[in-house]
Amino acid sequence: MTRAAVLAGVGSYLPPRRVTNDDLAAAMDTSDSWIRTRTGIRQRFFASEGMATSDLAVEAGAQALKSAGETTADAVVVATMTPDRPCPGTAPTVATRLGLGGAMAFDINAVCTGFVYGLATAQGLITAGTAERVLLIGAETHSSVLNPDDRSTSVIFGDGAGGVLLRAGEADELGALGPTVLGSDGEGADLITVRAGGSRQRLSGSPPGPADHYFAMQGRAVFWHAVTRMAESCRAVLERAGRRLDEVDRLVSHQANLRIINHLADELGVPRDRALVNIDRVGNTGAASIPIALAEADAEGVLRAGEHVLLTAFGGGLTWGSTVLTWPGLQRT
Ligand code: ACO
Repeated sequence: MTRAAVLAGVGSYLPPRRVTNDDLAAAMDTSDSWIRTRTGIRQRFFASEGMATSDLAVEAGAQALKSAGETTADAVVVATMTPDRPCPGTAPTVATRLGLGGAMAFDINAVCTGFVYGLATAQGLITAGTAERVLLIGAETHSSVLNPDDRSTSVIFGDGAGGVLLRAGEADELGALGPTVLGSDGEGADLITVRAGGSRQRLSGSPPGPADHYFAMQGRAVFWHAVTRMAESCRAVLERAGRRLDEVDRLVSHQANLRIINHLADELGVPRDRALVNIDRVGNTGAASIPIALAEADAEGVLRAGEHVLLTAFGGGLTWGSTVLTWPGLQRT
């Protein structure tokens, strides 16, 4: 018997404020047609005034616990680049608000790859015997760092949260996480960044530049890296898992941009209709994008028990990673 981390529940939450492309076009120099053609996005959701990342994470986490039929977890991990505040981490707040106070709780910042890094972390905690159940949540309030004067980023990102409950089980069970391949390249740290608010550019002392509190991205450069790195790590993880690309039933990639998702599917030779897509409805929700896509696809019956699922993400850092699992039969909540 090989001890494994088994996916036992999923959940997601989108905040109430729906923002269409036309809403954005009324506030900045852009258009519905540019956004749809270049990104595939029709709308996204933004947190209401006063709503923080932990508020979204608690909702998604509660759903994931319910979906797994669990009321406890030994660990709560929150993947986010938009924590409630720089210190302390957001996860202890989320754990306490979910009635899981006392559990180990910490954040992971691997930007849009945070959820895949979190899966590997949760898998390590479970296989080492440190935890029996891990609640992993990806949550972002991107709207708190979007620059209203930067149309190239403001139209892409949305807010939301998604979570999974992983429990200890065996490697041959449906839902058992397979191997994971992770990577990074700090040479590209400036391609996706929030410059101020850390130790390099402090909030006290010399004032930061006017846009330094905001998220900034060199989109065109990132596009090429995203496709290349996700494709490489997909191939590497499948090889490690002893699976072939033609066995992939569902490709669930970070919802960065519809053109990136399509390029990736083409590059891998996976038919485009096997790629899950929800970026049109929710935008790029960063570390939350994969678990939101999984929760929605499971609820809609798009993901079926026994399907071979390939997960892959790319994000700031630069970071990337992929993993595989066979989809479990989850209870409908
Ligand atoms: N509306 C209208 N025009 C715009 C907009 C807008 N919202 N944004 C940019 N433009 C203009 C530009 O000014 C430029 O005009 P110019 O040719 O006159 O200079 C033109 O459109 C083309 O701009 P590009 O940046 O080259 O557009 P591109 O097709 O590359 O699309 C995008 C930009 C959507 C950002 C794309 O590059 C992309 O998706 N990149 C990857 C994003 C990604 O994967 N990020 C990583 C994950 S996210 C994370 O880690 C947090």
